[in-house]
Amino acid sequence: MTSAPLPDTAPAAGPASDNSAPASSGTVCRLALDGEAATLALARRLAPLLRPGDVIALRGDLGAGKSTFARAVIRALGVEGAIPSPTFTLIQSYDLAPGGALEAVHHADLYRLADPEEVIELGLDDLLAGGALLVEWPDRGVGFLPQAALTVSLETGSKDTARVAVLEGDEQWYDGRWSGLTQ
Ligand SMILES: Nc1ncnc2c1ncn2[C@@H]1O[C@H](COP(=O)(O)OP(=O)(O)O)[C@@H](O)[C@H]1O
Ligand SMILES: [Mg+2]
Repeated sequence: MTSAPLPDTAPAAGPASDNSAPASSGTVCRLALDGEAATLALARRLAPLLRPGDVIALRGDLGAGKSTFARAVIRALGVEGAIPSPTFTLIQSYDLAPGGALEAVHHADLYRLADPEEVIELGLDDLLAGGALLVEWPDRGVGFLPQAALTVSLETGSKDTARVAVLEGDEQWYDGRWSGLTQ
């Protein structure tokens, strides 16, 4: 097993790091990721659980692994070819093969957003009608970004390649999806 729930699974006292508004509610789980493979495995567990309208907030410092995680989710959804960073374009969208739960997956990085209001120009309501959104630096769009269904905060671990993933999900994640993600 490449990731394991840590003994401390009590709800966090506050945001796990300071680059986002807190998640909407109550379900919190801390997972030890003992290397990049464990981060990729978590991403691959998340991918098939995604539903249209999901906003997945990815938090953590520069280099924490947010883009690595997002790319692995996108790849696991069947996207082939390049998955460029959305740092300058703000958002990259990928149409998915028909027949799956999602028509598309969108990857945003709001780090360079000058003003949270610029989120309006992304047209997220339309994108979320049939798709899911993975968003890095969600705090930069605070007030204009829909509430996250799930927040994944990547914190530093005990060695260079270790991370701790703090998962915070809203009520709908109880509904069958939480156990698929954390086990
Ligand atoms: N356990 C891990 N999870 C994710 N990335 C890791 C891990 N260990 C090492 N890394 C490395 O850390 C870097 C993370 O970069 P990136 O995903 O761009 O971070 P961010 O988007 O959070 O700024 C990558 O070079 C990746 O290979
Ligand atoms: Mg990044």
